[in-house]
Amino acid sequence: MGVRIIATGKALPKLRVDNDRIKDFVDTDSEWITSRTGIEARHVAEEETALDISVQAARQAMRGDGIFGAGSLGVGPIDTSDIGLLIFATVTPDMLVPSMGALVKKEMGLENAISFDLNAACSGFIFGTWVAESLMRTAGIKRALVIGSERLSRIVNWEDRGTCILFGDGAGAVILELDPEKPGIIGFHIQNYDDVGDALTCGMSYKTTPFTKETQKRPMYLEMNGTQVFRFAVGAVTEVMEKVLEKTGLKVTDINYFVPHQANIRIISNVAQKFNIPMEKFQVSIENTGNTSAASVPMALDDLLRSGKVKAGDKVMLVGFGGGLSAGAIIMEF
Ligand code: ACO
Repeated sequence: MGVRIIATGKALPKLRVDNDRIKDFVDTDSEWITSRTGIEARHVAEEETALDISVQAARQAMRGDGIFGAGSLGVGPIDTSDIGLLIFATVTPDMLVPSMGALVKKEMGLENAISFDLNAACSGFIFGTWVAESLMRTAGIKRALVIGSERLSRIVNWEDRGTCILFGDGAGAVILELDPEKPGIIGFHIQNYDDVGDALTCGMSYKTTPFTKETQKRPMYLEMNGTQVFRFAVGAVTEVMEKVLEKTGLKVTDINYFVPHQANIRIISNVAQKFNIPMEKFQVSIENTGNTSAASVPMALDDLLRSGKVKAGDKVMLVGFGGGLSAGAIIMEF
């Protein structure tokens, strides 16, 4: 019994903010941003809510128009009643209660879905897929929707050139199916790195109570030690890739395509060099999206599948890393 991806979707807010536009807010230049990160533009929600873009991505996946180039014509439209589980990975929900999962379930009429949110920052989609796969197997859930979605523009400090250039908004969705024949997901490796958790933070803002003693420690925007996160990312990605290959008994050359978290092109090329993998095997979508945290991997996977490069039987590795800090890798066969 396997769990495989049968359809994907993605959505970006309409407004595309290129690097030149960022110069209106902070002292930077387009060439610096592109050469240090690979980012040329990001999309920022003006009017769209996180719910809007998430439902748009999920509806595209529900059309079931298929894993392009994978020898499949697509499963065709998926009935809303078929979805038994909805996991919504995010750090930027529109509201805390109801959860984003509950809002999407209601908006899309997924009457049979158990829904909830999951926060593992930029690793959220990898963690969400791990949880979904496990629940599907143990509870016999036939189809599940996993969404990674963010409106990071709301928690970015637009006066800090070290962070505001990096992030963007977007949503990605996949539909997983329990399949008696096809292997689908072959293996996972998930890990937390608590010792460097302070390198990337975003606080919360609460009302004080008549009993409050603590004072607000962290502002409610992203703060990051870029150099530390960069070093962590290269090390953690290397570690989870090695471990998932070891667990599955596969060699790096057995993997046809890699879909890494889109945080910085230099992180991706560093890892490519370490493993001696040609860059053409890596899906790179960062130039037009920036870092979209939990949305980054499912959106990049959607780009890869729609490019028609992935063929039936190909093995694809998804790799995420992010706040917590945390990291994870998944190998799947299409
Ligand atoms: N424009 C122009 N100059 C800048 C900018 C900017 N936007 N930002 C920083 N600089 C300057 C710095 O002030 C510094 O100047 P100085 O030498 O005069 O002090 C110089 O550029 C070098 O700064 P560094 O921070 O050392 O630049 P670096 O090459 O490390 O690049 C970056 C910074 C892009 C943030 C890099 O460290 C990085 O990508 N880190 C990883 C970030 C990441 O992946 N975060 C997310 C991961 S987890 C998640 O996805 C939530």
